[in-house]
Amino acid sequence: MKKLWWLCCAWMWGTEALCAAETVPENLIRIGTERTELILRSDDDRRLRQAYFGPRLANESDLAYLSKARGGAEAYVTHGMEDYFEPAIRVLHADGNPSLLLTYKEVAQERNDLVQTTRIVLQDERYPFEVRLFYKAYLRENVIVMWTEIEHGEKKPVTLYNYASSMLHFGREGYWLTGFSGDWAHEVNMAEQKLTFGKKVIDTKLGARANLHVSPFFLLGLDGAACEKTGDVLVGTLGWTGNFRFTFEVDNANDLRLIAGINPSGSEYRLPRGEVFRTPDFIFTYSTEGTGAASRDLHNWARKYRIKDGMGDRMTLLNNWEATYFDFDQAKLERIIADAAELGVDMFLLDDGWFGNKYPRSNDRAGLGDWQETRAKLPEGIGALTAAAQKEGVKFGLWIEPEMVNPKSELYEKHKDWVIHLPNREEYLYRNQMVLDLSNPAVQDFVFGVVDGLLTRYPEIAYFKWDCNSPITNIYSPYLGADKQSNLYVDYVRGLYRVLDRVAAKYPTLPMMLCSGGGGRTDYEGLRYFTEFWASDNTDPVERIFIQWGYSYLFPAKATAAHVTSWGKQSLKFRTDVAMMGKLGFDIRVDELSEPEREFARAAVANYNRLKPVILNGDLYRLVSPYSGEHSAVMYADKGREHAIVFAFNRNSRFSAPIRNVRLDGLEPQRIYTVREINRMPGARSDWGDDGQRFSGDYLMKVGLPLFSGAHLTSRVVEVVATGIDRNGLCSE
Ligand code: DGJ
Repeated sequence: MKKLWWLCCAWMWGTEALCAAETVPENLIRIGTERTELILRSDDDRRLRQAYFGPRLANESDLAYLSKARGGAEAYVTHGMEDYFEPAIRVLHADGNPSLLLTYKEVAQERNDLVQTTRIVLQDERYPFEVRLFYKAYLRENVIVMWTEIEHGEKKPVTLYNYASSMLHFGREGYWLTGFSGDWAHEVNMAEQKLTFGKKVIDTKLGARANLHVSPFFLLGLDGAACEKTGDVLVGTLGWTGNFRFTFEVDNANDLRLIAGINPSGSEYRLPRGEVFRTPDFIFTYSTEGTGAASRDLHNWARKYRIKDGMGDRMTLLNNWEATYFDFDQAKLERIIADAAELGVDMFLLDDGWFGNKYPRSNDRAGLGDWQETRAKLPEGIGALTAAAQKEGVKFGLWIEPEMVNPKSELYEKHKDWVIHLPNREEYLYRNQMVLDLSNPAVQDFVFGVVDGLLTRYPEIAYFKWDCNSPITNIYSPYLGADKQSNLYVDYVRGLYRVLDRVAAKYPTLPMMLCSGGGGRTDYEGLRYFTEFWASDNTDPVERIFIQWGYSYLFPAKATAAHVTSWGKQSLKFRTDVAMMGKLGFDIRVDELSEPEREFARAAVANYNRLKPVILNGDLYRLVSPYSGEHSAVMYADKGREHAIVFAFNRNSRFSAPIRNVRLDGLEPQRIYTVREINRMPGARSDWGDDGQRFSGDYLMKVGLPLFSGAHLTSRVVEVVATGIDRNGLCSE
């Protein structure tokens, strides 16, 4: 038996204190959170095998059984030796030998109150080749992050063909996989399937704008389909703003192996001696209480540990994209800035179309790459706009797309060698543009310079919307040598992170939106650098109900930008209620709103500001799924269970379709809550009988509230406040 003394509270305060002991058999490595654990075993043959994965075992004494057990799957399966299914790693040594056999060398574990970190070293006995497995377990949030480092000491480069971030094995009755697929303006459509013998692969090969057709996350129901409140489910995602691949392989014994990592397709990586290949993070949570609890755990983790300024506030904004597209000038923008002030939002966001002189950006065919204001449109430059914003008391944000170039641009004319393109073929353009070669340090300098130059000239810029509208096309780097071309997909993303690291170092508090032609980039590595992402260009609220529902499995509301636009033709209230479930913004012609609509919008912004702590930092409960019918409802509750907001939507129910109560969640059964409808159009009488009534939490969660109706495209927002709690004047006594 080995005794592990955990170091508690040591990292946060720099003090070290021994605070708990655990007795673990010598050959076991226990990795886990307060609720989930993965136990690995090093056997007599010095292989490392997975001994257990699931809910945390209650009794330490039981570990002895696992210690004595034999067989089982290897923790990180190699190619070319004894395994016949998909490996985690496959390499070609410089001498042409395609095999790898990894044996266990050592483990190091550290733990404080919040996090347990494990580092396991595996090595090949015939080649100087090492694989290090890392596990970071967030104890309270029940999230585990896994990654791998690969390094060798061979004389010549080794080619990595497969290099997974993680491998996990399951031996369960059945596996139900939910993926999230889509397209531009049609993101994250959820579809579940039962896995049977063979492989199911979810992957992307688009390079940049990588999630255009598929998102880097999934739900895996174990022993049954994934349910919201019950059952075992693993929710996983890869933190990588590029090509990813999840392989789910069910073998002849109905065991499942899950392999997550960078998509190795077209990406054999030439690794020189001594260079460490660090894979991206595979991030997962394992819930025994369905997807609802899994999402709440992920949201808590993401806010606390991953998203840029995850615990901070978010700004409401007015964006001009759908209001003007490329057609604006200084006077028009100044009017919109004044509209932003009138709405009461925090910021005006200037979108695409403000730059380019030789090739002005008056449509998407020209100008990308030339980041100087178009003199004809904005003779007084960005400075006049930041001044106008300052005068109106709003902040100023700016759209950029610095990784891209239009062939019709001065940048392209000057620096064709900075553009990813094939030397001997006609160029294939996507949205009339091409991708800059971020594997090249000179290009990294240029891209950083776009941000840095703008902020140096205009320090009043308070926010960037960073767009990326093209996948990598014409895959060939003029910078990488002929022997390293297949490193490009990986080196592109690493180059992007190098730029973003520099931005973060110099402008650590600058909020930024990660946008990619809508939701083409939605991953948790990108979100280290961005405070939020643009969920979709589709802002029709009916579509958004589904899109925001899909993203909510992984991301908290504060990361999911949602704007009120004119895309749908529904009432302003319906559109606003949907957008208020996320990080609220507007992208409408305020001058076209009627006076009551303006009044409504102003009041909605004020409500949102008041409710932000609950919506942005509270717990999410998905109450009624839009996938199950014409109604849907979502609820946010604060951590103290004193304050909650419920959003309920009616789409197009059929005549006489049954209307059910919405049963709330996350309240205290014994407490008494007052419910009030908010976000009503000015002057509209409440037709809701329960307005202002009091109920116990028990009643609200068991019987529920009649929030739905048969009226098409209508919505109701209800604030739920525990009695005795004063919410800025909304005292429920
Ligand atoms: C795509 C984005 O998703 C839109 O919001 C807008 O910024 C356009 N690009 C601008 O070209």
